[in-house]
Amino acid sequence: MEYLEIKGGRSLSGTVRISGAKNAALPILSATLLAGGGFEIDQVPDLQDVRILLRLLKELGVEVKDKGPSGLLLDSEKLESFEAPYDLVRRMRASVLVLGPLVARLGRARVSLPGGCAIGARPIDFHLKGLELMGAKLEIREGFVEARAKRLIGAHIYFDVPSVTGTENLMMAACLAKGKTVLENAAKEPEVVALGEMLREMGAGISGLGTGTIVVEGSRELRPVYCKIIPDRIEAGTYLMAAGAAGGELVIENCIPEHLETVIIKLKAAGLKIKEAGPGRIKVKKRGRLKSVDVKTQPYPGFPTDLQAQIMVLMATAGKLSVVTETIFENRFMHVAELKRLGADIRVEGRSAIVRGVKYLYGAPVMATDLRASACLVLAGLAARGTTLVQGLEHLDRGYEKMDEKLAALGARIRRVRQKGDISRDCT
Ligand code: UD1
Repeated sequence: MEYLEIKGGRSLSGTVRISGAKNAALPILSATLLAGGGFEIDQVPDLQDVRILLRLLKELGVEVKDKGPSGLLLDSEKLESFEAPYDLVRRMRASVLVLGPLVARLGRARVSLPGGCAIGARPIDFHLKGLELMGAKLEIREGFVEARAKRLIGAHIYFDVPSVTGTENLMMAACLAKGKTVLENAAKEPEVVALGEMLREMGAGISGLGTGTIVVEGSRELRPVYCKIIPDRIEAGTYLMAAGAAGGELVIENCIPEHLETVIIKLKAAGLKIKEAGPGRIKVKKRGRLKSVDVKTQPYPGFPTDLQAQIMVLMATAGKLSVVTETIFENRFMHVAELKRLGADIRVEGRSAIVRGVKYLYGAPVMATDLRASACLVLAGLAARGTTLVQGLEHLDRGYEKMDEKLAALGARIRRVRQKGDISRDCT
């Protein structure tokens, strides 16, 4: 097993380069199923989730070749399968993103149902209802959903709450459907916009990207394109918060500051000095103890749920009392129990965590339970006095490219240790 050993209390300095966004790469790579021919995709992050999706695409018949560092060539001319097996979907629920493209292109898809995950039930009913409204016949059998349609037809679809992958799946399906599809209360996340822009390049008629109403005019055929994945706003936000946790001064490069507006407003309110430092660069500096601020997660452009665990680390040592409210996922406070092991004073009441800032956190062994919780524990380790051992790195490696190496280059005392056996506490 592997764990990170972090000796806290060392401030950070230097420049960190942000990788391509995981949540943009996954739908964009899935979209290559919609058209035959050669795609070229750049700035693809080297992450476990991306590797799983590429394995799935290969199983479906897509040819995948490396094109230098972080570039990929994909050719989906000859698809050989329409099935996403349980083994892959269970390891990465966003595999469900192949459902829309497969049924739209091949008229048939068989995708394992993802089931729940550590942060909540995470159903995919919006994806399924939307495809049904577009004329697909759905059957659920043996843990799979099977969808069939000679050709999908445009439909008027309303999301009860905006769903990121739901919007992406149906937007992709709609591109090859007959007629017009309207997606109401659609997700506005930059990753949805990035996918929509790629689909437009491919020949789809799409309007309303970045608003709650997306209109797609379907076409018979799409063409392969070149696409560069946008920088990861969640990774950038995590490094802004790393500066807040450890102290020091950082330049975050290769990011899109507009994608981080709400996050920057909150961090400034907490006392971090943040300013733009040239195109695609942000400078962040911490001076003195941070102030407590309340945080409520919301769909974009609100504060992202994917940064909730990380900002809680800052609040754990901030001046007063902060209320962190999670409105997107029902079970996204798994990191609280681990932060308490480091000395944080946090009480969860329903969907809110009441965080009373303590002067210091103290290092201890902790266990990551999900992707963003793992980043939160790394930040906590940077802030804490003494040594923190973070286990559960399979979660961190799903979504953060070389986080330990990037932090070490900024001066953090952090190293990845490979060891036989388990250093974890027993859980009976
Ligand atoms: C995506 C992101 C994830 C992020 C989340 C919220 C990817 C690959 N993942 O996940 O990192 O945390 O958005 O910003 O992009 N819901 C339903 N039925 C559905 C679909 C969703 O009830 O069919 C609910 C969910 O349970 C949740 C809310 O809608 O409460 C939003 O979830 P959604 O936006 O779909 O999350 P994902 O797309 O899975």
